[in-house]
Amino acid sequence: MGSGRNVAVFGAYGHTGRFVVAELRERGYIPLLLGRDQDKLLALAQAQPGREARQASVDDPASLDRALNGAAAVINCAGPFASTAAPLVEAALRAGIPYVDVAAEIEANVDTFAHFAGRARAAGTVVVPAMAFYGGLGDLLVTTAMGDWTAADEARIAYGLSSWHPTAGTLASGAVSGQRRGGRRVRYTGGRLEYHDDALPTLEWPFPAPLGPQSVIGEFTMADVVTVPSHLAVPEVRTYMTAKAAADLSAPDAAAPAAVDDRGRSAQTFVVDVLVRSGGTERRVAATGQDIYAISAPLAVEAVDRILTGRTRTTGVASAGAVFDAPDFLRALSAHLSLHVPHDARG
Ligand SMILES: NC(=O)c1ccc[n+]([C@@H]2O[C@H](COP(=O)([O-])OP(=O)(O)OC[C@H]3O[C@@H](n4cnc5c(N)ncnc54)[C@H](OP(=O)(O)O)[C@@H]3O)[C@@H](O)[C@H]2O)c1
Repeated sequence: MGSGRNVAVFGAYGHTGRFVVAELRERGYIPLLLGRDQDKLLALAQAQPGREARQASVDDPASLDRALNGAAAVINCAGPFASTAAPLVEAALRAGIPYVDVAAEIEANVDTFAHFAGRARAAGTVVVPAMAFYGGLGDLLVTTAMGDWTAADEARIAYGLSSWHPTAGTLASGAVSGQRRGGRRVRYTGGRLEYHDDALPTLEWPFPAPLGPQSVIGEFTMADVVTVPSHLAVPEVRTYMTAKAAADLSAPDAAAPAAVDDRGRSAQTFVVDVLVRSGGTERRVAATGQDIYAISAPLAVEAVDRILTGRTRTTGVASAGAVFDAPDFLRALSAHLSLHVPHDARG
């Protein structure tokens, strides 16, 4: 039987899926463990007695329907999302439940908006792509920094990662995105995504203390270029990445994240520093925390909690900043994120 507390996690045994399952439990939800590999699912379920494992494949819609039976919502953590997002959104629409994913793939997120906006709105349900560190957090921060502005000339999101040990899922998703772009690069300028072959600039970004100025790769384009312009009139959205983290990601022997605490988080720290500009006026806000994969769990679960308790502003396919009260959402994550608002940007 269904319970309003059952939340299905597709890709439950992946690195991010495990953080999401743990976060759901901590928040009093009952995670339903979904994935394509029965053995991996059973191993996870055995480690967490009482958890229900449901094997399902994106190639078999009936298996997805069975897996979502009785779920109040689904969180998709299985990437590359080029393969999983559309079948899971379809299944969520058939089940009449909200869908949240953690996709960092720009093209997959564009597809979710393009293919499902009308049907999700008509169904009166919510589909939230990129509800994670990349895409979701940046959008919440930009929306918060905008305050009463509905338009700005530009938004810049600088990622100050101490390191980046990528998971297999991150690397596979990057490879799929690269193939979809034909090896080209992408940026968001003039109010649209632009594919190009230009070299990426290196510059210095003035992160707030204690990190301070760091060398960053400019136009290191992340999912925020989909989420932010989906609801804010900002024709230039640029993302930057600390050069060290970018080098870690592309290293041929990139190591997977290693847990250093009892929550399973790695030692990686992050600062997401956001600047929005309208004419000569700038507004800034930054957030700091530990482990970009781990933080994606409270982001996705807080989103589900708000959807299931009716704390939403819209229906259809929408990004975090459009669906939720962004400053309130960020405040709710104070156990996981520290917010920094510069003095000259207050009040
Ligand atoms: N936006 C963000 O900030 C953010 C944050 C965290 C993660 N992510 C994204 O989330 C995805 C997962 O990352 P991760 O760190 O959890 O990687 P991971 O540990 O390698 O896990 C990947 C998971 O996806 C599953 N999967 C992959 N393709 C599948 C398919 N076609 N059907 C069913 N399951 C499939 C894998 O199952 P098998 O083991 O059976 O292959 C595994 O459970 C990646 O795309 C990553 O980029 C994004």
